[in-house]
Amino acid sequence: MSASNHFHAFNRIVGNRCFTDHEILQEYSHDETEDLSFLPNYVLKPETPEEISSILKYCNEQKIPVTPAGARTGLSGGALPINGGVLLSMERFNKILEIDEKNHQVTTEPGVITQVLQEAVKEKGLFYPPDPASKGSCFIGGNISENSGGPKAVKYGVTKDYVLNLEVVLPTGEIIWTGANVLKNATGYNLTQLIVGSEGTLAVVTKIVLKLIPHPTYDLLMLVPFKSAEKACEAVADIFRAGITPSGLEFMERNALLWTQEFTQDHSINVAEDDEAHLLIEVDGFDPDVLMVECEKIMNVLERYPTNEVLFAETVAQKNSLWSLRRKVGEAVKTQSIYKEEDTVVPRFELPRLLRLVKTIGEQYGFQSVCYGHAGDGNLHVNIIKGNMTDDQWNNELSKAIRKIFEGVKEMKGTISGEHGIGIVQKSYMDIVFPEVTLDLMRSIKKVFDPNEILNPGKIF
Ligand code: LAC
Ligand code: ZN
Repeated sequence: MSASNHFHAFNRIVGNRCFTDHEILQEYSHDETEDLSFLPNYVLKPETPEEISSILKYCNEQKIPVTPAGARTGLSGGALPINGGVLLSMERFNKILEIDEKNHQVTTEPGVITQVLQEAVKEKGLFYPPDPASKGSCFIGGNISENSGGPKAVKYGVTKDYVLNLEVVLPTGEIIWTGANVLKNATGYNLTQLIVGSEGTLAVVTKIVLKLIPHPTYDLLMLVPFKSAEKACEAVADIFRAGITPSGLEFMERNALLWTQEFTQDHSINVAEDDEAHLLIEVDGFDPDVLMVECEKIMNVLERYPTNEVLFAETVAQKNSLWSLRRKVGEAVKTQSIYKEEDTVVPRFELPRLLRLVKTIGEQYGFQSVCYGHAGDGNLHVNIIKGNMTDDQWNNELSKAIRKIFEGVKEMKGTISGEHGIGIVQKSYMDIVFPEVTLDLMRSIKKVFDPNEILNPGKIF
């Protein structure tokens, strides 16, 4: 069938919410992954599950690729329409449908901004903890697709830990619920959790039921400078072994902080000459005295480490400014150089070994790296900076170095993505962490859901 027939078909389904103007196609051609860009042929903005069902039925018949997209803040290319076709924007699905205070649940559409959802439930004293760095702009639906984490994950878990039930449209057009609105469910395969983190390759999520918890009423935040980055990583496991579960335990290498200060023009933190790295440590709860005791225990652990003077945030404004610095590291690195971001994750105790490995391989292959991330989860974002590398080194040699890092990660019983997903930028490394038999199993699952491979094709595998 011709392009104009497709246009008319889409037009019949979504009316004037089918776009083909070049400017709009361009706008939807990228997410936040490096500088990658792929033009779709159509941008569709459906408003109901039924419209999505009709779109998918048509595309399944016509074998037109469909790439679902949320706020396009992803870092692995999950929302990039790499084969053209339809870019299915979920932005019109922007309503919180019900905050169920009796059951501590919220039912929402996927196009709600994560922070908006968090603030809405907080008004009722409730807490939805997963807080990716992009929480002010990312959509909750994208968080489901990538199984997003963020700083709070260390105490409260990641997106998957809050998803109870999903309404989804299958690539063949059927609309189903995957589970039930309950905290316990031993009824058949766990399709809900299969969809979480499936990067929009199995189904299009149209409604989400999330578990909520009571919102903590107090928190304390400290910034600890270390004279050794490796020692900072070493302290992380020790804090847990002292019986503390912080609600945030973030690591920032010296340059991560300096570059972010430059980017934000926020120089309120004084970085000493010999500060190699910082840990940002938060504890939260319902009793300020308990939190003070926890901070004392943390300070006792830190006595054994080479630190400079610890900064305790004294005001809400100071806490916000510290968190804002941490959240902007990714953006700040982007402004410095062409870069690649890896999302390595290892068991927490292996963190110092991972950092050492990254630096050693950097020396061997001649690249500079800036590391930061969710140290409490063993989740290190490794930003590899192009800097003075030649195009040949960058395009041809670097993937060998990344492979070496990932092989080391695998040896430490870790994996290649903790929270950003595989998308297109990590898929050529999947063989490091999974044997062919496991990858085949995953491909078979994809086939069952999507026999014609129209939904977000070319991602993950
Ligand atoms: C962060 C994003 C990049 O932690 O995951 O800042
Ligand atoms: Zn992160």
